[in-house]
Amino acid sequence: MDNGIFSLHRGLPWIFLAFLSVYGDVSYSVPEEMKRGSVIGNVAKDLGLDLGKLSARKARIDTEDNGVKYCSVNLNTGDLIVQERIDREGLCAKRASCVLTQELVLEIPLELHRINIHVQDINDNTPLFKEDSLKIEIRESADKGARFLLDEAHDGDIGENAVQGYSLQQNNHFSLNVRSKGNGRKYGELVLEKELDREDNNEIMLLLTAFDGGSPQRSGTVAIHVTVLDANDNAPVFSETVYKATLPENSPLDTQVITVSATDSDEGVNGEVTYGFDRVSDENQVFLLNPKTGDVTVAGAIDYERESLYEMQVSAKDGLGLASYATLIIQITDINDNVPVIYLKSLTNPIPENVTPGTEVGIINVQDRDSDNNKQVHCSIQQNVPFKLVPSIKNYYSLVTTGQLDRELVSDYNITIRATDEGSPPLSSSKTVQLSVADINDNPPVFEEQSYSAYVTENNKPGSTLCSVTARDPDWRQNGTVIYSLFPGEVNGAPVSSYVSVNGDTGVIHAVRSFDYEQLRSFKVQVMARDNGSPPLSSNVTVSVFISDVNDNSPQILYPALEGNSFMTELVPKAAHGGSLVSKVIAVDADSGQNAWLSYRIVTSTDPGLFTIGVHSGEIRTQRDISESDSMKQNLIVAVKDNGQPSLSATCSMYLIISDNLAEVTELKDISSDEKNSKLTSYLIIALVSVSTFFLTFIIIIMGVRFCRRRKPRLLFDGAVTIPSAYLPPNYADVDGTGTLRSTYNYDAYLTTGSRTSDFKFVTSYNDNTLPADQTLRKSPSDFADVFGDCDSSPEVGIDVF
Ligand SMILES: *[C@@H]1O[C@H](CO)[C@@H](O)[C@H](O)[C@H]1NC(C)=O
Ligand SMILES: *[C@@H]1O[C@H](CO)[C@@H](O)[C@H](O)[C@H]1NC(C)=O
Ligand SMILES: *[C@@H]1O[C@H](CO)[C@@H](O)[C@H](O)[C@H]1NC(C)=O
Repeated sequence: MDNGIFSLHRGLPWIFLAFLSVYGDVSYSVPEEMKRGSVIGNVAKDLGLDLGKLSARKARIDTEDNGVKYCSVNLNTGDLIVQERIDREGLCAKRASCVLTQELVLEIPLELHRINIHVQDINDNTPLFKEDSLKIEIRESADKGARFLLDEAHDGDIGENAVQGYSLQQNNHFSLNVRSKGNGRKYGELVLEKELDREDNNEIMLLLTAFDGGSPQRSGTVAIHVTVLDANDNAPVFSETVYKATLPENSPLDTQVITVSATDSDEGVNGEVTYGFDRVSDENQVFLLNPKTGDVTVAGAIDYERESLYEMQVSAKDGLGLASYATLIIQITDINDNVPVIYLKSLTNPIPENVTPGTEVGIINVQDRDSDNNKQVHCSIQQNVPFKLVPSIKNYYSLVTTGQLDRELVSDYNITIRATDEGSPPLSSSKTVQLSVADINDNPPVFEEQSYSAYVTENNKPGSTLCSVTARDPDWRQNGTVIYSLFPGEVNGAPVSSYVSVNGDTGVIHAVRSFDYEQLRSFKVQVMARDNGSPPLSSNVTVSVFISDVNDNSPQILYPALEGNSFMTELVPKAAHGGSLVSKVIAVDADSGQNAWLSYRIVTSTDPGLFTIGVHSGEIRTQRDISESDSMKQNLIVAVKDNGQPSLSATCSMYLIISDNLAEVTELKDISSDEKNSKLTSYLIIALVSVSTFFLTFIIIIMGVRFCRRRKPRLLFDGAVTIPSAYLPPNYADVDGTGTLRSTYNYDAYLTTGSRTSDFKFVTSYNDNTLPADQTLRKSPSDFADVFGDCDSSPEVGIDVF
């Protein structure tokens, strides 16, 4: 026997299949009954595998029908090692060729190699006879040369190790004739060499030895008891030499399979045929042979998958031991009684959501123990999932992705794989593979709104909450954890962080300082939401902060100036009629809207009935014509109030002198202001007189020119209370954006000072010290009209006091 001689050949050269998996066959030849741990061969070397990667690629031995794994692979050396007892007789019984198929599976990529192990027989079975002793009855009348069939000895081994011959113990009457059956099996016949004499010796003991051809040789013996009888002429004769029957597997007990029959032409006991099986084997437990009728019936479980063919020897013996033999072959037919079984051989779980379509995720193996069509299995995935099965080698399938996965949409898959065979009716089974999808940071945080607005009233407390922003990120754990921060920037030249702060975890935005509407009405900040992935993803949103006004500025009175002359604010001509504009209080308010809407009121006055003030215009007019009895000195205290809640106010004093004559005024003034200013006053008078003279000349020239042209004169003075720019607070001049009032705003405030806009502005300095002393204001508008002739008599016409 070729113990230890292993022959190796590549069954198939390298074959490339889907996914570049490589498959190859390798064959080894080993004797049966090798010790566990013995090395069969080096698969790594023989298949050209990288020894270092065996472990990483999960190299392992698998079997087709998930049966016993007879060998294993040593991941360090690549050796194929005996793992389980390999008993050739147990595996292959009498079959001449006994091939054990194991599979070497490697992953990434899936690689499958078939390992064929040819199990060689060793002589481990002894020839055995069915019984310990054999009884033969021979008539004394038997002729010399008569032959008597002997039971065959059986040996589990095959070939040379099976029964090779018989030998008979030395004796006086019989010799042994060894014969062969067609299938190579040997049996013996006793040949009568010397006639028997029952009277001399009615019983002979012989020892028959069967030996095999193994090394060392093994043998078995049986004792033959020969009883010498009177006469039995005919042996039973079977109707057929070979009986054949087919039987479906799973046939119930007592199913009639076939009936064997033999006839014996003798009469009585000599003609009574008894049937029996002629072998020691399990098959006798599966079938029952009725000794009397020859009916073969089912007596055990018929399983095609265990045994598909039974071959038995049946004997027919007559009452005196003459026997003949026939062969009974029972062919079992397959029934589709095994459901396909799905094995999950390998699975990558979880799989990252960004795997490219077509990625192999797992390896599926389907097995069906039936044969032919009953074994043909189709595998499929029924659900609508982005996975498919790609047939690989034999009954292997790769589970691959067919589309892009998105953990945020589907994070778990239960993939039901259904396997159906082609039997009729078909059998099927299914298996559910659970697969999770692992997260990849593929979603940036997204703000719930496109932009945010926060409204805050000025003078807020630092630290107060303005608003809160929220961004969502559907990724998993830190990939979906959102952190908020301010995008660096500037507001009014200062870093944005000195205005607001954002809570990194909650997105709540706080004011860092108290805002002043008069300085800053609104600003924008960029808030960034970033997740905690690596690399992180982020997005921005704009938060607009609008500051609303609070009535925190009291009206500011521009005219009359607080620190102005406490003696005289305006000079009122004695001739002033009721309704004449006398003066005007001019005030502004830095707030806006209602908070800057001013109203004017006279709080106290020397003569309450004489003057009134326009509630919104601040214009002070006479209520009636001035009479001689009116006091020359009239003082008014005017309150200016805005419309805020609560409202703020300011007051000013207005000193009005009713006089046509500056000298009178001067007297009056002298009385009150002593001699201190007399020098100054005289300079002043000189200056005034000269200016007034110049002014009068100028007027006369203009009037003369107009008169000459006979043109309708235009009204010279109309509501012409002009505020020189010097009266405006310095910041009012700055009309541009960031911290101060805008031009329109400024203009609003300006408009509140008068109900009419002036179209004529005096450029002279507005100061009561420069009032013309006596030249002006003597004439009423109608006087002017007289001078110019056909002046229209608009009720609006009036000479305003400067
Ligand atoms: C998958 O099956 C498991 C267990 O049967 C179940 O808990 C889970 O909800 C299933 N998942 C899906 C996505 O159907
Ligand atoms: C987050 O995403 C990255 C890849 O972008 C991944 O490696 C990591 O496992 C993810 N984290 C979690 C908790 O899923
Ligand atoms: C955030 O805003 C800044 C400036 O406004 C811009 O440069 C950047 O591209 C934005 N980032 C994102 C993710 O939108």
